[in-house]
Amino acid sequence: MSKKIETIGVLTSGGDEPGMNAAIRAVVRTSIDNGLKVKGIKKGYMGLLNEEIIDMDRRSVADIIQRGGTILGTARCMEFTTEEGQQKAVEICHKFGIDGMVVIGGDGSYRGAQALSRHGINTIGLPGTIDLDIACSDYTIGFDTAINTAMQAIDKIRDTSSSHERVSIVEVMGRRAGYIALWCAIANGADDILLPEKYDYNEQRIIDNIIDNRKRGKTHHIIVNAEGIGHSTSMARRIEAATGIETRASILGYMQRGGSPTCKDRVYASIMGCYAADILAQGKTNRVVGHQNGEFVDFDIEEALNMKKEIPEYEYKISRIL
Ligand code: ADP
Ligand code: F6P
Repeated sequence: MSKKIETIGVLTSGGDEPGMNAAIRAVVRTSIDNGLKVKGIKKGYMGLLNEEIIDMDRRSVADIIQRGGTILGTARCMEFTTEEGQQKAVEICHKFGIDGMVVIGGDGSYRGAQALSRHGINTIGLPGTIDLDIACSDYTIGFDTAINTAMQAIDKIRDTSSSHERVSIVEVMGRRAGYIALWCAIANGADDILLPEKYDYNEQRIIDNIIDNRKRGKTHHIIVNAEGIGHSTSMARRIEAATGIETRASILGYMQRGGSPTCKDRVYASIMGCYAADILAQGKTNRVVGHQNGEFVDFDIEEALNMKKEIPEYEYKISRIL
């Protein structure tokens, strides 16, 4: 028998990303439309444990769809990973009358969502990360904005790299996942791409490639390096010493996680937010929303966490051919 929900909470957890606000707005407005009350929980699970809980109405999410970041704030919280922390969180939910929850975040946040479900709070997860590294979904909120931001930055670096006939190493985000690097390598026509999932630490191959390209008359050489490989500055020094060609490193960093969301991130985050609110109102729990084969779908959290996602071989291959 599914439980009837009366009041839901919504929180954002882990790293922020553009589109989180669109998702919050959709959760709030759809839930109100479904006859539920909505509370916003500030700063993720930490704010829940600190009772940073506010009432939300349609107006409290006005004028946010175009804004980057998250109006609720986000945080990481060790205490919530413990059984005691989770018990305390559930007691706080009861105190505030919260019987349903939408958690917007990555895999770690889903583990937290699973814990809340286990303790009787109906909980639905939404895939929020610029890294695209959530296995049950071919789309994650923020990825589209992040790759467009990175792509534009790399275009600019390419201009100056070409004028000065330099090698440029551009480090993009992705500590454990190379999807941002992969997409930028294709979109920016990079000469080399270094991904945490694929890199063989063979710097000589990169050096040979630079020298070959220069002999063929290429005036610049762009290397897209994922954060998970890192060390772009020292790599630049080694490459310059080995090739005799001026080499510069640019680390794009947190600019990729901010900014106004693209149209795709606004629309997909809105649809996913509405979807989460609707299945919560239907009494579902312990589910995550994903996008697969052109459709929005939901999965059991454990099933979703057990899925594997790998860099598509064909995309990796063409990133190097092109
Ligand atoms: P992301 O959600 O982006 O993967 P984290 O891995 O940092 O980010 O997780 C965000 C938060 O989710 C953590 O700070 C913690 O509060 C909670 N969390 C992570 N792992 C667990 C777990 N195994 N059990 C309960 N909560 C967890
Ligand atoms: O949001 C994902 C991500 O940007 C990763 O690519 C990166 O490794 C990580 O977050 C860094 O997060 P923070 O520095 O906020 O811990």
